[in-house]
Amino acid sequence: MKIIDFHSHILPGIDDGSKNSKESLEMLREAGRQGVNLMVASSHFYANRDRVERFLRRREDSWNRLQARIEKSRRQDRRDNYYRKMPEIRLGAEVAFFEGISKAEEINKLTIEGTNILLLEMPFGKWKSSDLQEVADILEEGNIQIILAHLERFLMISSNKNLIYELMELPLYIQVNAESLLHWRTRGRTLKLLDKKGIGLLGSDCHGIEHRVPNLKEGREVVRKKLGEYFYTRMDELGEELLMPAADKMVVHF
Ligand SMILES: [Fe+2]
Repeated sequence: MKIIDFHSHILPGIDDGSKNSKESLEMLREAGRQGVNLMVASSHFYANRDRVERFLRRREDSWNRLQARIEKSRRQDRRDNYYRKMPEIRLGAEVAFFEGISKAEEINKLTIEGTNILLLEMPFGKWKSSDLQEVADILEEGNIQIILAHLERFLMISSNKNLIYELMELPLYIQVNAESLLHWRTRGRTLKLLDKKGIGLLGSDCHGIEHRVPNLKEGREVVRKKLGEYFYTRMDELGEELLMPAADKMVVHF
């Protein structure tokens, strides 16, 4: 089964993640060492600062630069008779919620390549019930599936707690960051969220090689140990099903 990192800022020079192709390559190698087979490149998209077409062009440029660097390193590795296992990359975006998102047809273009899945980042401020309604409206349309990015991070805003649980009731998927499973302060509530939803996806949300590093393996170990083998296996099965080519069907595992 494929090990998938659902959230990463692996693409170089496009957001606050990897600074350049060299750093991206190191991050990819580190993820490869941890057994990751596939990484979703989820660069930040903010509708108030960017246009979809412009974002897609920048993403393409960044991806081309990285591919060239990967190819160069492969040639070098072949010459040295050395094989480095690196994850494949699937292009996507981490789309920050904005008012009116449910009416913005362009967001279709920001779904993870080959799927109709949108990685959605909710607001870091106090949520309104109309925000939840917009998420429900997107789902109601039926063209897009949603993965909520690092849902556990919003628990820090205590007034959101009830709305978070309400949001989780919707037919969507939740993603948590490996990092939140590694620290005693955040581990308990992150596990509780996964347990309550009954299923979830993991992401490293890695931004670099020195800070917010690829750490999926450690996070996966916590899931296995604390939530058990069954949950752990289902998490991988769900990940694979969601990213299979032509995943435009609805996968029902809520
Ligand atoms: Fe992120």
